[in-house]
Amino acid sequence: MIIASYNHLTQALSDFEDDALIRLVYVSNINKKSKLDPSLFEHIRSHAEDYNRQNNIKGMLCNNQKYFLQCLEGTKGALLPLMDRIFKDKRHKKLRVILLKPIDSYSFDDWRMRSLNLDNRLWSKDSLQAQSPELIKFLPFKPLKWSEWFLEHFLETMQKFDDVDQSYEAQQKSYNVVQDPNTQVALLLDSNLLHAFLLVLVVTVLLAVLKMNAII
Ligand SMILES: Cc1cc2nc3c(=O)[nH]c(=O)nc-3n(C[C@H](O)[C@H](O)[C@H](O)COP(=O)(O)O)c2cc1C
Repeated sequence: MIIASYNHLTQALSDFEDDALIRLVYVSNINKKSKLDPSLFEHIRSHAEDYNRQNNIKGMLCNNQKYFLQCLEGTKGALLPLMDRIFKDKRHKKLRVILLKPIDSYSFDDWRMRSLNLDNRLWSKDSLQAQSPELIKFLPFKPLKWSEWFLEHFLETMQKFDDVDQSYEAQQKSYNVVQDPNTQVALLLDSNLLHAFLLVLVVTVLLAVLKMNAII
């Protein structure tokens, strides 16, 4: 289910009471102009923390050079007015709600808007391995290609992530490495190795055809 407008979102939540607790996750594309603004993330974060605390909304926000991904948990009555503003916010576009469901309790246990920059230019394999090995499987960051369970797995991982020192608590170090089959296929299709292999194949076939023509 993908919801791409505020009206569609209100329809999707029409069966729920105002005090129903909801988890909502969306992905949006960062606008070109905003990509150049070094304080973009801090602006959003400081505003969000005040508002969200006052309205009992918890969650996290992360980004890479292309996407925002935000998870918000709160009552329907608190989330809808916020989502109305977030949909209209010019700093991003193509907002798609990729997860929307009622929950029994909050899964993020404090009011901080946990945030993480998953731009893979900032993270080398070595620094990830040393600081936060649990994040490796989520990079490159392509949330629109994730299955629902992998998204939930990402959210669980983020709940344990300490964004102050950008690392996990010591006891989380033995976290299992799980790969999303969807991502594995996507990575294979994206890989340079596959592209090189296809190129060599095409050139070989072309040469064979030319040779055959020459013989005939
Ligand atoms: C990716 C993204 C996430 C945001 N998340 C929140 C949030 O969680 N809480 C919040 O109050 N504002 C958030 N904002 C800011 C709102 O979109 C909006 O700018 C803010 O509520 C002020 O709205 P106003 O200018 O109409 O008063 C976010 C903006 C963006 C671009």
